[in-house]
Amino acid sequence: MIELTELRNRISSVEDDLKSRVQTLNTLDALEAFRIEFLGRKGKISELFKLLGQIEQGERATAGKLLNNLKQEANAIFASRQEDLGSAALDQQIASERIDVTLPGVYHPLGHKHVLTQVQQEIESIFLRMGFDVAAGPEIEDEYHNFEALNIPADHPARDDWDTFYIDDKTLLRPHTSPVQIRVMEETQPPVRIICPGRCYRRDTQDATHSPVFHQVELLWVEEGLSLANLKYLLEVFIHEFFGEGYETRLSGDFFPFTEPSVQVHMRAPRAKDWLEIMGAGMVDPAVLTNVGYDPEVVTGFAFGLGIERMAMLRYGIDDIRLFFGNDLRFITQF
Ligand code: PHE
Repeated sequence: MIELTELRNRISSVEDDLKSRVQTLNTLDALEAFRIEFLGRKGKISELFKLLGQIEQGERATAGKLLNNLKQEANAIFASRQEDLGSAALDQQIASERIDVTLPGVYHPLGHKHVLTQVQQEIESIFLRMGFDVAAGPEIEDEYHNFEALNIPADHPARDDWDTFYIDDKTLLRPHTSPVQIRVMEETQPPVRIICPGRCYRRDTQDATHSPVFHQVELLWVEEGLSLANLKYLLEVFIHEFFGEGYETRLSGDFFPFTEPSVQVHMRAPRAKDWLEIMGAGMVDPAVLTNVGYDPEVVTGFAFGLGIERMAMLRYGIDDIRLFFGNDLRFITQF
């Protein structure tokens, strides 16, 4: 048997314990230890409940009430600390995961097409609208397609005009896009309407107007009944579309082994005094048509070759070809 007084004493000692612990319940771990110590199945309060049976019958109700009060007190402490600590932890998590949407972002500059690519694509689109296809050929070319088939035999002085980079005796970096004419005609029957934009190479020393690497657009149209008049009309349409209305076009005599007659094409801006040379052109030489198996008595054609850098320089007033390849953003971003 246990006296009620003794139980009271033990209850108030546990109660003192409880109260002195409140201050230390500052972490969730400490709170869990507290729960186990007082409210757990073998905790201090459960142990006191076990004594109930040893209390005298008449006093058991009073004792039970005292024990329940103690248990409620412990539960209340636990619940209020749990709430405080829980919301503190949540606050901390929120603070650590906060994204400040007002901070300036990381700047990723957007690139854009190089001015030469822009000009090339614009030229392509003008001729695509007129019904031409875009063709391509190898930059590493053989002598046959670059010279012989274009009516430039081995001993012909015109070979010297193309200051060619040779890779071996028979292979070279193409100095113009004209070999693509041959490759296309070898594989197709007339009518042929193509343009061929592409990179070319010449043994030129770099200066304001020369670059060992540059770009051309070749045009070839072969069909029955074409004449120089058709070429002139086509050039005028092109110049008006690319440079603007009011430009004049002029053809004058020139020489290329693969065209006969050959012409130089000049244009003049509205109200300008000077004519500017913009490309070489001409009627495809009958020997070239024969070389690809066409009958020059049946079909005729014309071709031209223009420099993309030159077109861009004239359009934008750029005075040094080296700017295209210098990768100076102050230049590149202007277009
Ligand atoms: N291939 C010539 C050059 O590079 C240009 C040209 C092309 C001339 C087609 C006439 C016809 O100079």
